[in-house]
Amino acid sequence: GGPVLVAIDGPAGSGKSSVSRAAARALGYGYLDTGASYRALSWDLLERGIDASEAAAVIEALAGFDFTIGTDPDDYFVRVGAVDVTEAIREPRVTAVVSLVARVPEVRVWLNDRFRAIVAAAAYPGVVVEGRDITTVVAPDAPVRILLTASEEARASRRSKELTSESAAAVGDALRKRDAADSKVVDFMNAAPGVETVDSTELDFGQTVDAVCDVVHARLAALT
Ligand code: C5P
Repeated sequence: GGPVLVAIDGPAGSGKSSVSRAAARALGYGYLDTGASYRALSWDLLERGIDASEAAAVIEALAGFDFTIGTDPDDYFVRVGAVDVTEAIREPRVTAVVSLVARVPEVRVWLNDRFRAIVAAAAYPGVVVEGRDITTVVAPDAPVRILLTASEEARASRRSKELTSESAAAVGDALRKRDAADSKVVDFMNAAPGVETVDSTELDFGQTVDAVCDVVHARLAALT
């Protein structure tokens, strides 16, 4: 029952989102960016003037948090209520508080329920679900589980090319801090047993997408 789940985890700046979306497109699958959901909640808290470091207030805010996320890799969007926040959730002010939001266990349980419901309802033969704890917590039984990694230098330099206003050193610093904070909550630096590692350090974008698709095809072929 339900679409085939392809779980992909990895650190910030590993290219996870763009690679996962391109892989979903190549496979004819849907795509779910779980990090965007943590970001959407963070954006909503900022809009409502709620302190993200106050766990009780964050938990209380979940009841009024109404988000919609696209699962079509060709039509990706995130909305909070009627507001399109697809771009806004990438702003540094959101990135700065998202780890505070993500460390609240009740938030994780609440979002994980949504993720499972979105996947179950997706009208695709499969869904690529991408995040930090998909291979270990959200979908430990997924038929395909991948850890997408790259060296810290490669990740920082890719990110700084996206964010032209910041130096690679500053971006590297911010990535390290966010990964360190996130790593206290879930382990996405080491592959859990049965999780296949794809290291993109020496690969370009297209090669990384191909490597992910190769793992998907190999794992699915091994099942039948
Ligand atoms: O993937 P992205 O960098 O957009 O994720 C934003 C933040 O959301 C992460 O830094 C992390 O705090 C949180 N996150 C998480 N679990 C996930 C996905 C994202 O805690 N599955």
